[in-house]
Amino acid sequence: MVKDFSLFTSPGMERMPNGDPHAAVACLHNGPRIFYSPCNTRDGRGTWVITRAQDQRELLQDTLTFSSHRSLFASALGENWPLIPLELDPPAHSVFRSLLNPLLSPKRITELEPAVRDRAIALISKISASSTSCDVLTDFAFPFAVSISLRLLGLSDERLDTFVGWGRDLLHGDGIKQTAAARTILAFIDELAAMRRKEPTDDFMTFVVQAKVDGRALRDEEIHGIGVLLFVAGLDTVATAIGFDLAYLARNPKEQELLRSKPDRIVLAAEELLRAYSTVQMIRVATKDINFEGAPIRKGDFVSCATMIANRDPAEFEHPNTIDLAREDNRHTAFAYGPHRCLGSHLARQEIVIALEEWLSRI
Ligand code: HEM
Repeated sequence: MVKDFSLFTSPGMERMPNGDPHAAVACLHNGPRIFYSPCNTRDGRGTWVITRAQDQRELLQDTLTFSSHRSLFASALGENWPLIPLELDPPAHSVFRSLLNPLLSPKRITELEPAVRDRAIALISKISASSTSCDVLTDFAFPFAVSISLRLLGLSDERLDTFVGWGRDLLHGDGIKQTAAARTILAFIDELAAMRRKEPTDDFMTFVVQAKVDGRALRDEEIHGIGVLLFVAGLDTVATAIGFDLAYLARNPKEQELLRSKPDRIVLAAEELLRAYSTVQMIRVATKDINFEGAPIRKGDFVSCATMIANRDPAEFEHPNTIDLAREDNRHTAFAYGPHRCLGSHLARQEIVIALEEWLSRI
């Protein structure tokens, strides 16, 4: 029941040039449907690990038994409020999800397309004009993702470097840097909310400060929970997706040439790369003792549904470790499954496709 496997520390999972952590999870699909990993979070906590896509889908639907309530960001500050809607359970989750859905609807994202493309072109042109090599994550993918998050919040790129630094410290810094960045980002959200209350525009934060749930205005903690999530949700997720995609294409020049000459294939290719290089580990907290396939899950235990495990499950995907950029009917769960399905998936897809289109046509 206990297995010496961790998404963070097992052989093949560590950060290294030309590493392939997604191939390293293939060993799990021949093993049990669930096992306990004693060290399977960034801060070294243990989780149960669900190894089959179908089991993950069932678990993610069962929000009564497997809760999303964790207060991850707030706990870095010694506080206790949820990221909204990510860390809410029903019925509160559906109230906020319905409120926020229109903000990232396909129509809104289509309207955003020219701005997203402009930002990709600006960053890529700078790289192609100044250098013959670059670090894709540092020089393009991360600043691009931060820049789009700023755009959502109604801000220009004027202070892009400052925000990139905050994002990097929050997501990759040590404990001290993380806490400092969390504090700075929260103060910034408060400042922005105050500005939009005074001078409303047509951006997200104006929408949030004017919004009502159950006939009342949002509380400060709710504004924090929404503002912080909207800022951070699309940073590492989008940046790593672009990073993995460009690394794959760099190693596969024929596929690269094919997409360059037939850019209409990029949309389908991006889906396959999302499947093959999924990154998000969803963690749920058991709300009661429950027996899952003989595993004695106890109330309060963490249960992990890692998309990188589900999306290489041979029961769901033919030849899961072969990357087929023309794969059809690609029902991957890179954007999750169930009520917490990614609210930003339309935007994320648009960012990735535009990044690939502009990169391949300019570099
Ligand atoms: C490739 C990029 C992305 C991936 C792979 C991704 C993946 C995910 C996943 C797996 C979840 C579910 C997490 C859980 O249930 O624990 C999620 C939720 C969420 N994502 Fe994304 N995401 C991406 C980009 C974005 C972007 C650009 C935004 C927009 C700002 C965004 C906003 C959200 C929000 C608000 C939620 C919470 C939804 C809810 O709880 O109802 N994501 N995302």
